[in-house]
Amino acid sequence: MENDYSNIAKQAAIKFEKLLISQLERAEKIKTSQQPIDYLSLPTIRIGICGGDGIGPIISAEAESVLRYLLSSQIASGKVELVTIEGLTIENRIACGQSIPDGVLDEIKSCHVILKGPTTTPQAGDGILNLESANVRMRKELDLYANVRPVKSESQGIDWTFFRENTEGAYTLGSEGIDVTEDLAIDFAVTTNPGTERIARLAYSFAEREGKERVSIVTKANVVKATDGKFLNICRQVASEYPHIQTDEWYIDILAAKLIDEKRRTSFKVLVLPNLYGDIITDEAAEFQGGVGTAGSANIGDRYAMFEAIHGSAPRMVAEGRQQYADPSSILRAAAMLCSHIGFLEESGKLNSALDYCMNELPEAIVTGRPGGATCSEFGAYLKQALAQGR
Ligand code: IPM
Ligand code: MG
Repeated sequence: MENDYSNIAKQAAIKFEKLLISQLERAEKIKTSQQPIDYLSLPTIRIGICGGDGIGPIISAEAESVLRYLLSSQIASGKVELVTIEGLTIENRIACGQSIPDGVLDEIKSCHVILKGPTTTPQAGDGILNLESANVRMRKELDLYANVRPVKSESQGIDWTFFRENTEGAYTLGSEGIDVTEDLAIDFAVTTNPGTERIARLAYSFAEREGKERVSIVTKANVVKATDGKFLNICRQVASEYPHIQTDEWYIDILAAKLIDEKRRTSFKVLVLPNLYGDIITDEAAEFQGGVGTAGSANIGDRYAMFEAIHGSAPRMVAEGRQQYADPSSILRAAAMLCSHIGFLEESGKLNSALDYCMNELPEAIVTGRPGGATCSEFGAYLKQALAQGR
């Protein structure tokens, strides 16, 4: 038996060795990363729009139409080009056997920034090819290391910005865990110094630029000692360069609790956290401003950036024939983040204000996901009206 175990372990170790080499190479590559791109100096900024699956094509088409309206003068002058990218559908991904088919990836890479509808992510037991998530693939392929997710609710005094590390943690090798035997499966989490340093720097420089007095580092370093321990230590080092910003440390479990503590939650401002915790906590956080349907998400790298709705493709809505009632506000918030990222701050501000107005002050524009609420395209029409009226 002991001999058997030893052979089984040796087989697994061969796979592990390959993973280690890939991660050592990745860490080295991060160190040679380029300077962030200066969009306004580009002759043309190419914005790619990927529809995705389920309700994706409906909400993305609405977002595209709003962007065409909002950026009409930049499009007319050739400063901005909107490119529709087909083929990022679950059917095509399964047919090609690739999370992002090569041709689609080439088109994506020919753009500077991407606006992406939700894409269906298979899981074990679904009866379809268990492909890696298209989001996760894109984040890795384009090295989109920061997932920036703002959550705001003025009436509740909430103004949080989450800096979720986006290429490491449980996600890096999430599709490359090892089924060692029928009884034993092992997954891996990854933390690198340069990978942590770059997200921490982004969070602190954001806090400084935006005048936020506090950054919270969130881990479970008391239990997950190597990877979360490293994440915490590297964040602390970056924090020491910003003595005028208050830094505090939280474990993810108690942070999840404190976000629903009315007296404590308003004091959180900027939060920096590893990938999986960031995934979970930003869904919780989005509930305070009306749910995942209302929150945008920016995936930022040095060369590329991708903006998306925070929610999934809602196959249930499609199965029940309610897709026309899908709420486009999450992808529209993402579109506002996109505008601001490429330097169109005024347009971004206008879009956010018009969204605030339609979501909070225009009852007929409220999207409920069901008949009785506004449809996706009705919401888009109200939004354009609000933009035209300078709301
Ligand atoms: C998100 C989503 C993705 C993630 C899924 C679709 C893979 O939940 O963007 O938060 O886990 O990152
Ligand atoms: Mg998520």
